[in-house]
Amino acid sequence: MPDTLSLDLTYLADLVTEQEIEAIYPQTKAALESLLNKTGKGSDFLGWINLPFDAEKQLSAIKKAAKKFEKCDSVVSIGIGGSYLGIRSTVEALGGSDKIHYAGNQLSPTGFNQLISKLSGKKVGLVVISKSGTTTEPAVAFRILKLWLEKKVGKKKAMKRIVAVTDQSKGALKDMADHEGYETFVIPDDVGGRYSVLTPVGLLPIAIAGFNIAKLLKGAQAAAKDLKTTDISKNIAGRYAAARYLAFKKGKTTEVLANFRPELHYVSEWWKQLYGESEGKEGTGLFPASVDLTTDLHSMGQYLQQGQRNLLETILWVKSENKDIVIPRDKHDWEGLNFLAGKKLSWVNEQAMKGTSVAHRDGNLPVIRLSLDKIDEYSLGYLYYFFEMACGISGTLLGINPFDQPGVEAYKKNMFALLGKKGFEDLAAQLRQKGV
Ligand code: PA5
Repeated sequence: MPDTLSLDLTYLADLVTEQEIEAIYPQTKAALESLLNKTGKGSDFLGWINLPFDAEKQLSAIKKAAKKFEKCDSVVSIGIGGSYLGIRSTVEALGGSDKIHYAGNQLSPTGFNQLISKLSGKKVGLVVISKSGTTTEPAVAFRILKLWLEKKVGKKKAMKRIVAVTDQSKGALKDMADHEGYETFVIPDDVGGRYSVLTPVGLLPIAIAGFNIAKLLKGAQAAAKDLKTTDISKNIAGRYAAARYLAFKKGKTTEVLANFRPELHYVSEWWKQLYGESEGKEGTGLFPASVDLTTDLHSMGQYLQQGQRNLLETILWVKSENKDIVIPRDKHDWEGLNFLAGKKLSWVNEQAMKGTSVAHRDGNLPVIRLSLDKIDEYSLGYLYYFFEMACGISGTLLGINPFDQPGVEAYKKNMFALLGKKGFEDLAAQLRQKGV
């Protein structure tokens, strides 16, 4: 059976050699062991490690809740950050859904008005997701949509079409859900937002969109088994973490995740939150950026090839297509493309990926290549777990706590103060003094 995911460090070798990676196997192993044995920083947030197995117990309840939404034409998944990106990443990668809409992931009225007009005349359900239960964006969105739905169908019917995913005992959303009688699902205490795609946060909306959540877990389970080996030579999460850590130590301060499949755009968005929030603290960490290729080769390609050489590129390649296209022959051959007639478009895309890898490596942009065998629920589950494990190892190598996000609070506090929230009066006065 081919590997679900493989790692190729050939195009990194000019910067980081195999010997250098092997030389830090002991640290990499220690980092992995500190996660598996729960002895490192942030060890109270390691629920994600066993999640692929633990979440199985909830599958039937989640599927049952998803079934309730079969009657709805449209379901709005309300959430931001870790309560949004894993859902969208999975749904879009698997081909998208006309049924699922997103709200609570920004504060612009324009997007909101567009959503409301899309929902008019539809039978609508709401899934509101917030671990803390107090995040402003989803709270505002939920208030607007809940009152809109209640006005449309009445409070009693609306109540049956709303599910909340939140903390098991605290937060405004939990209190409201209990009071209003919404069905609820719990985000475990020991799983942070960016690691929560395999909790009901991700599983419920993904199931509502019609995708196979059991297969998603199976893929993650396979990864969990493969990636617990402390023989780092056989552990691709450990090797990826070690390689990017060494690249960082050699001055590569930005890692660009590059895909060659537009449906992976939101996988990159999910990845950016995972790595950005996990590693970007205490003045360290690779800045995670992303490009969609070949599209962005025509906009960012120049910078990638010849801009500041602080970049590391990680290409996420997918080896097979569900449905290919063969390039047709044209008797006029105006574009001179008949030399490609009969070739599969996926083959052309692959040559673009290979050509890009060499050009970038030769331009002093080292490339790590990850190859996923295909895009389905199983392989995505595998990929998520791989990136999570690599992120935990990598953050531990950097010496930071990969599982907290103290920096996210700063803007929230300022915003609360500026909005006039009770309890933030002193901060509001300080901001006024600063001329805000
Ligand atoms: O990783 C995080 O903690 C954040 O990005 C959260 O996911 C985001 O702020 C949403 O938080 P919550 O689910 O509590 O509404």
